[in-house]
Amino acid sequence: MSLIDPFGRRIRYLRVSVTDRCNLQCDYCRPAGEPLLPNHQQLLTMEEMVRLSRLFVTLGIDRIRLTGGEPLLRRNMVMLVREMSALPGLQELSLTTNALLLDRHADELRQAGLHRVNISLDTLNPETFHRITRGGDLNRVLAGIEAAVRAGLKPVKINMVVMRDINDHEIPEMIAFAVRHALALRFIETMPVGRAGLGGAERYIPADEIVRRARLGDGQEWIPVDAPKEGGAGPARYFRLAGGDAEVGIISARSRHFCDTCNRMRLTSRGELVLCLGGEDRVDLKTLLRQGASDALLMDAIRNGVARKPERHHFELGAEGASHWNMSGLGG
Ligand code: GTP
Ligand code: 5AD
Repeated sequence: MSLIDPFGRRIRYLRVSVTDRCNLQCDYCRPAGEPLLPNHQQLLTMEEMVRLSRLFVTLGIDRIRLTGGEPLLRRNMVMLVREMSALPGLQELSLTTNALLLDRHADELRQAGLHRVNISLDTLNPETFHRITRGGDLNRVLAGIEAAVRAGLKPVKINMVVMRDINDHEIPEMIAFAVRHALALRFIETMPVGRAGLGGAERYIPADEIVRRARLGDGQEWIPVDAPKEGGAGPARYFRLAGGDAEVGIISARSRHFCDTCNRMRLTSRGELVLCLGGEDRVDLKTLLRQGASDALLMDAIRNGVARKPERHHFELGAEGASHWNMSGLGG
């Protein structure tokens, strides 16, 4: 079976947010710094997450990414990974994390069937890290990255949200760090979420400028290349340094949106199916689940959601503050 939306796109990638709590308060993600106090009744249980995921996979989803908030804050993550990775038909199970808790869990997650991790890291400077994340400890993240590599969660990808006058001067240093540790580095343009914060217009740097500033020395050019075969069906475009083996990805939701190849949907920790990261339309699967809906009915609701998937988002219009959601509940 496969899920095809009205624009002919095959939807095969589901991002499942397992909690909207986070142990960091990154300014561009949760600009108002509002504490989230989840009512546990509202969160999907492990069983509900696995049941819905099984139905998604039956319908044609073959890649699932676990996100948050910070997914490693959810209790029993190892058990969830074990059950999800065993879903027949699922080709890849991955995780996006801030890595604060990863050094403790990398090995057992790998053993439970997790294939790979993407890790958010915007700076190598402890003070800048502290500032962006409102209090985070960079050393914990570095230990988490090391543990992920050691556990064989390959490829380990690093996500750097590039912000003018905050961390943009660190682009070359981050490339050197990634090469040194065999990490796949992706630069991300800020996306306008919630109140502007560090994701706001004055911090935004378009992809072309990021690539220009990624030069490591005179005359070194980045050449567009195909996405690496191993691990990834996301929106990043890739570049390789002429004459070298350094490779970087870039995710440019604003300067060059990738909606025409969008292959994904999101399931929030409260059981809503989100059809587009930049849109408000959702399908409330949790209420159906808790009313005792059959698998067939739930699959119909998912198909109806796919039929409502919008053609594209409109981040590039300078929509600062236009959306009232924050990134943390959606897992990016
Ligand atoms: P892989 O390519 O499978 O490794 O993952 P990914 O890059 O899709 O996932 P990750 O969680 O690492 O997200 C990296 C960045 O891409 C984050 O800033 C996400 O918000 C952004 N992103 C992921 N999916 C979408 C999408 O559908 N639309 C937009 N605009 N941004 C997205
Ligand atoms: N703009 C761009 N990327 C964002 N992320 C979170 N908020 C934003 C934003 N406003 C990224 C994080 C993380 C990923 C899941 O989403 O850096 O790596």
